[in-house]
Amino acid sequence: MRPYTERLLPWLIETVLSRPIYAEQRRALLGRVEGRVLEIGFGFGGTLQEYPAARVRDLVGLEPNPGMLRRARGRIARAPFPVRLVRGVAETMPFPPATFDTVVSNWTLCTLGRPPDALREIRRVLTPHGRFLFLEHGLSLEPGLARWQRLLTPVQQVLADGCRLDLDIETIVRSAGFRLESLERYESGLPLRVLRQMYRGVARVPP
Ligand SMILES: C[S@@+](CC[C@H](N)C(=O)[O-])C[C@H]1O[C@@H](n2cnc3c(N)ncnc32)[C@H](O)[C@@H]1O
Repeated sequence: MRPYTERLLPWLIETVLSRPIYAEQRRALLGRVEGRVLEIGFGFGGTLQEYPAARVRDLVGLEPNPGMLRRARGRIARAPFPVRLVRGVAETMPFPPATFDTVVSNWTLCTLGRPPDALREIRRVLTPHGRFLFLEHGLSLEPGLARWQRLLTPVQQVLADGCRLDLDIETIVRSAGFRLESLERYESGLPLRVLRQMYRGVARVPP
């Protein structure tokens, strides 16, 4: 047991991401899910109540942190569709090709050790008509703030389990070969400016 990563950090992330402002942002994305759904970096399960139940056949929550999985277990018992938790990382997923109609990533790409590997895996497990839905904080559009994000990323990575402040979400999603169906870039209301820039998008694998 690693007390900081498996106890304190899950509590902190749940406290921050349970704020109503995030529920609205999640809902605006998750309205687009359908069918068999995979959520990478499932965390404490904070997205569950924002999924439109009628559109979800079943959901797999992929998560490596045992402390997060413990928190998620209580929530999945109340879910209105079948949910299965799998311990693992997004860079090497234990699922056959073309398993999911939708893959979701909420505030997770920033934390991955190797985002390009994870995006390749997302392409592999999506069905040919499947969609990748993401809601992520990332690189600021203001050059001055982006410089601060680059400077502070090493500190943030130590404090927040590897989380980068300066990930250019649009570029990494496009570079992985996805075609963007929609992309919104907006500032969340978070007081911490280095975490404010949001990217919300829907991507597909071109035929
Ligand atoms: C900031 S939390 C977001 C949790 C959740 N998606 C939400 O929106 O409430 C990021 C999550 O990604 C998980 N994570 C870290 N590295 C990962 C990896 N390589 N593959 C999948 N998930 C990972 C963390 O354990 C953490 O639960």
